[in-house]
Amino acid sequence: MFEKQRTSDENLQKEFNRWAEAGEGEKMRNHHLAITEKTLRLMNLRPGERVLDLGCGSGWATRLLARLVADGPEGFGQVVGVDISDEMIRQARAASKDFENTMYVWGSATQIPWEENFFEKVLSVESFYYYPDQDRALAELFRVMAPKGRLYILINLYRDNPYSLQWVDKLKVPVHVRSAAEYVELLSKHSFENVEYRQIPDDTPTPDDYVTKSFRSLDDLKAFKRIGALLLIATKPDFRTPAPGYTVY
Ligand SMILES: C[S@@+](CC[C@H](N)C(=O)[O-])C[C@H]1O[C@@H](n2cnc3c(N)ncnc32)[C@H](O)[C@@H]1O
Repeated sequence: MFEKQRTSDENLQKEFNRWAEAGEGEKMRNHHLAITEKTLRLMNLRPGERVLDLGCGSGWATRLLARLVADGPEGFGQVVGVDISDEMIRQARAASKDFENTMYVWGSATQIPWEENFFEKVLSVESFYYYPDQDRALAELFRVMAPKGRLYILINLYRDNPYSLQWVDKLKVPVHVRSAAEYVELLSKHSFENVEYRQIPDDTPTPDDYVTKSFRSLDDLKAFKRIGALLLIATKPDFRTPAPGYTVY
């Protein structure tokens, strides 16, 4: 079991190191910025919060988060970026030299290298469907999140956006293709509360001369953007507050 996990993680590391070396880390910013900005608005981030960016890639979203939680009346917020690709982590560190409140750690979603009950908010952009063992990743997220912490998983590849399924065969690593309803069930199974999902359309214009290798046609790309990404939102229960009728000793 652990051997299988290690092989999958090594494959992901190799593949995403290749992406990083090809400059894809920063290019992904262009593709994911619009849907991420909408998500950041929903996250209601405050100065002083501790945030995890899981599958942070080259760290562009980590840096957006870092600005939002930095120094303020409520304290000094920190953002930790975790990624399986050491090359992405290297690039993220190099691009974040001016930030005092970011830290990048090389590691897997299935063994998050951090202590328990720490993060008040978690963002994960376009990463979750790559995790070979999503159950284990959710157990790890639950562990490192603070009581009442809020989880925001944003993914472009899911069954209810049929246009996104055009990539599955082009990707060199296996991915999960689940529906929004299946994801909600999965998060609920892991004891997260207030599990909900939203679809986040990408409203940026698509120029008529835009060249796409990921979609069969520009019309398909436009339809994909119109349907939008899937945003999963959930809360870790507050175990410090006993349920009515229970006493905590
Ligand atoms: C499509 S990229 C998105 C990167 C970044 N969030 C962005 O939007 O630009 C997916 C990222 O997830 C990371 N990743 C994939 N599987 C992972 C795992 N098991 N644990 C941690 N990171 C993983 C990859 O290395 C890659 O950087």
